Amino acid sequence: MADLRIEQLTRRFGASAPALDDISFSVAEQEFVFLLGPSGAGKTTTLRLTAGLDQPDGGRILLGGRDMAGIAPRERNVAMVYDKHSLYPHLDVFENMAYPLRLRAMAEAEIRSRIGRVSEILGIGHLMERHSAQLSGGQQQRVAIGRALVRDAAIYLMDEPISHLDAKLRAHMRVEFKKLQREFAATILYVSHDQLEAMTMGDRIVVLDQGKVQQIGTPRDIFDRPANRFVAEFVGEPAMNTIVCDRQQEAGIWRVVAPDFALQLDSGWVMRNALHNRAPGPVVLGLRPEQLTLAPPDQAGQPNVESGRIYAVETLGSETVYDIETGGTLLRLWSRRNAGSLSLPPIGAPVHFRVDPLALHLFDAASGVALAHPEPGLAVAA
Ligand SMILES: Nc1ncnc2c1ncn2[C@@H]1O[C@H](COP(=O)(O)OP(=O)(O)OP(=O)(O)O)[C@@H](O)[C@H]1O
Ligand SMILES: [Mg+2]
Repeated sequence: MADLRIEQLTRRFGASAPALDDISFSVAEQEFVFLLGPSGAGKTTTLRLTAGLDQPDGGRILLGGRDMAGIAPRERNVAMVYDKHSLYPHLDVFENMAYPLRLRAMAEAEIRSRIGRVSEILGIGHLMERHSAQLSGGQQQRVAIGRALVRDAAIYLMDEPISHLDAKLRAHMRVEFKKLQREFAATILYVSHDQLEAMTMGDRIVVLDQGKVQQIGTPRDIFDRPANRFVAEFVGEPAMNTIVCDRQQEAGIWRVVAPDFALQLDSGWVMRNALHNRAPGPVVLGLRPEQLTLAPPDQAGQPNVESGRIYAVETLGSETVYDIETGGTLLRLWSRRNAGSLSLPPIGAPVHFRVDPLALHLFDAASGVALAHPEPGLAVAA
């Protein structure tokens, strides 16, 4: 095991904007770190540079404190999960997984025990004698993961290893991957564009967009205190509602005024977030769908109870997502209530919803940088 330090890494391809622009982060020994970002963010580029398959234009990569400049891929002792096409077609599954261990002259008993454990978790124990051409795409993918995991590598680099599996298998793998990482005390840098994977498996998440680090933190930090509007909208499902508002102050009372409603801010919250020191002006209001609650009609007109019409309703088994139209703005509300009930409101029906004034995010309208977050410890509405 070894720690990884990425220092001011830059990679340019041609004249366009750099694929990686001065990124820095670290992975501690035995830590499970996610590189999370949309397509084209620079995730694969970062992994390839770390594995030594590509060379940076600037910055350093230190593995176990050692500068990797000029060190060939095979001398770095990194295990990278390539895609399934890297399996050896003339070997069966067991021998595909055993191959890197035999190269390192591992004892046969140890090889069997490692492959047994890993293949059980990956659900491929029954496929050991098949050749890779006799496997489905998802099975091949799991064998490729297994072949990387059985090795004793300084660090494991994984590029969306489970994104092509079906939903049920992905859910199983999320749990098992995390257990396997703990059991093997593995150091893992795992690339994904799936925030659910990052939130459930990662010790820490590095959010990347357009070749720049947007935020580094624990899943909780990233979800509760997103550093900017990009992170706020990227992490969370359903995504955070964001509305451009005007922040106004009158007689010591602060409000955010959306096109179709206005919210009175809690004065303690305004002070704690030092918003009173900032001049009034445009802000982006961020409301998580799970922190909006439906309100009964008799609460209409109460402070912070707003009105709209049902635009769409999605029932997802035990929960319901409402799209609510307020004037020209669509807001999403997530609720456990009404689940399975037959009394879902029809499209176009009037609805009322409550906004908790302590459960708001505010972002600078121009830069997107976060100005204020919900009060810590707020319970998520049922
Ligand atoms: N060999 C290359 N030549 C030119 N441009 C490249 C090359 N490799 C990557 N890029 C560009 O660098 C940027 C980052 O690519 P990268 O593959 O790292 O993205 P990614 O975050 O892995 O995306 P995805 O989620 O789609 O896999 C993209 O704009 C891509 O077009
Ligand atoms: Mg990629």
